[in-house]
Amino acid sequence: MRNLQKKYQETYALRGVELNVHPGEVMALLGPNGAGKTTLVKILTTLLRPDVGDAFVNGWNVATEPEKARATIGMAGQYSTVDGMLTGSENLYLIAKLRGLGRRTARRVADDLLSRFRLTAAAGRPARTYSGGMRRRLDLAAALIGAPPLIVLDEPTTGLDPESRLDTWEAVGELVDDGTTILLTTQYLEEADRLADRITVIDQGRVVAEGTSDELKATAGNRLVLYVAEDHDLAPATRAAARATGATPTVDRRARRARRVEAAVTDGRAALGRALAALDEEGVDVLEIGLNRSTLDDVFLGLTGSATRAEAQPGGTR
Ligand SMILES: Nc1ncnc2c1ncn2[C@@H]1O[C@H](COP(=O)(O)OP(=O)(O)OP(=O)(O)O)[C@@H](O)[C@H]1O
Ligand SMILES: [Mg+2]
Repeated sequence: MRNLQKKYQETYALRGVELNVHPGEVMALLGPNGAGKTTLVKILTTLLRPDVGDAFVNGWNVATEPEKARATIGMAGQYSTVDGMLTGSENLYLIAKLRGLGRRTARRVADDLLSRFRLTAAAGRPARTYSGGMRRRLDLAAALIGAPPLIVLDEPTTGLDPESRLDTWEAVGELVDDGTTILLTTQYLEEADRLADRITVIDQGRVVAEGTSDELKATAGNRLVLYVAEDHDLAPATRAAARATGATPTVDRRARRARRVEAAVTDGRAALGRALAALDEEGVDVLEIGLNRSTLDDVFLGLTGSATRAEAQPGGTR
């Protein structure tokens, strides 16, 4: 994708996005609500035209050769697109036929996918009777029909219960083993961390960071973390942490017996030594002290100033 820009009325959804996804890799597009993820995915899958810029899929320009591009993409959109009136089996058979498969092959492919996504028992029921997780699995199954080299998944696990989410991750993992290229969007750091070879962080229509999970975490440095048992130890411990790191510590006093003080450090072990000395000077009793690697959460907060959503609640919030 080169310099993709898209504006809806007064809203700039994409402000010049550059993105390369290599064959066979899993790229996670990570961003909060309204970042532009769905807009980008729609442009890539020929569902929407950009105002400016170009996108290519497997060598095809999506604007000038949309049919050729489409033939190489499997997609599961953010919202379920299965037909509620049709059974699970009929939904998949229909897509397989539309993908140009013959009757017999279409039948077999549909059956294989139903079993792979644990839908065989429900295969004869109209999809409108499915739970949200079952619909999502049917969506995913539909995206795999015809074994396209690129699969695009827009928030594949939003609203899924933990078990369905693990199923989805497993299915994505199997695709990767088959060499399929995957572009998935997510608001969940854990999902990006777990599935993706590379992560592109997008915020307000711009790419704000890109790299492997480890590379992104390294940009945020390490964190000095210490715990004290008593409230009256918090102030001197915070002073000591500030002095040792030069950063402004954050304090978490929610845990009853282990109040936590945390500060970003740039020079690792040396800071730990200074912190121990400073704590001694302040006369603070520390329960535990150590250096933690930054999490993707720290990276994301630093980049966008907003936290991604906490871990999904079963049933979702959407
Ligand atoms: N059809 C539309 N008309 C007007 N504005 C739109 C339209 N679609 C999206 N937008 C706006 O464009 C911006 C990007 O939206 P987009 O749906 O691409 O974000 P997203 O990253 O997919 O968010 P979410 O995580 O909520 O799905 C948002 O500000 C949104 O309000
Ligand atoms: Mg979206």
